[in-house]
Amino acid sequence: MKTPKKIGLFGFGTVGKGFYENLKKHPNLPAIISKVCVKRLDLPRIGHELYFTDNPDELLDDHEIDIIIELIDDPIAAKTYVEKAFLVGKDVISANKKMIGESLNDVHGWHVSYDSRFLYEAAVGGGIPIVHSVDGFLRDQEVTEIRGILNGSSNYILTQMQQNNWSFDKALSDAQLKGFAERNPSLDVSGIDASYKLSILAYHAFGEVSSIKSFEIESIEGVTKEDIKRAKAKGRKVKLVATLKKTDHEIICSVKPESIGPNDELYSVDFENNAVSVETLISGRHVFMGKGAGALPTGSAVLEDLKRLLDGYSYQVSKKVKTVA
Ligand code: HSE
Repeated sequence: MKTPKKIGLFGFGTVGKGFYENLKKHPNLPAIISKVCVKRLDLPRIGHELYFTDNPDELLDDHEIDIIIELIDDPIAAKTYVEKAFLVGKDVISANKKMIGESLNDVHGWHVSYDSRFLYEAAVGGGIPIVHSVDGFLRDQEVTEIRGILNGSSNYILTQMQQNNWSFDKALSDAQLKGFAERNPSLDVSGIDASYKLSILAYHAFGEVSSIKSFEIESIEGVTKEDIKRAKAKGRKVKLVATLKKTDHEIICSVKPESIGPNDELYSVDFENNAVSVETLISGRHVFMGKGAGALPTGSAVLEDLKRLLDGYSYQVSKKVKTVA
């Protein structure tokens, strides 16, 4: 077996634990968690064999650590750790859609300026390999539209309201209990979390940075039980739909609740599941579906990134960027 690569892991919350559980199932993978940086050292934790610290520099200054895996909530701290990791030549994996979505110009700079690699499959669509697919498999295809359900919590809430007549608040509490929602769940229900994910897909599809400030975004908080009942009576469902359309001159993005019928490919995507359809000029429509939130699915996307890093993979997007504002 090759000498294992050493991992410095930031964060041991839902996704961190999910990654840890997934990694344990692959004992032959040449990678081990060397140190874990957490905010609170006093909390009881699984992973008794792991070394925990609350000092980020213990990971970033450790020359033996090759790979930083950043799975924390705070986008500002995350960006600091990621930038420092690149400066000292470490590869980085992240699941931080907020940090990446808000910093796409910087992310682009990191891709083109550093030899270190940066992968973030878990930031979009939980366990669905959508960033890799758009960036890699579909890289030479002209993408004309991306449409999907990109937030597991809001889809879970709308599904419980529709199927079981739950109140919004009860469904949101349950989504939080199940580890689907963000620490600040208003990001989920407002459409902002899905907007960050759409902006990351837009970047990989077109190599262009679109700020979510230009998106039309509407929360599901305005969706009433009556709206859902009316849709149900017509055999329809209310879903939070993210749409990106590419014209000759611009990319138009929106994230908003829509009433959709049974012939829509998003109709059967319920609970925390996500789906993304990618329309291309050459090979038509590709639909990806799977678990969009939760510890194990999201942790498995982190593990897949780790395997790709070990295989020498890096994103292709830096080769197709035209202009960055
Ligand atoms: N809060 C997110 C969601 C987690 O519900 O989709 C996965 O990104």
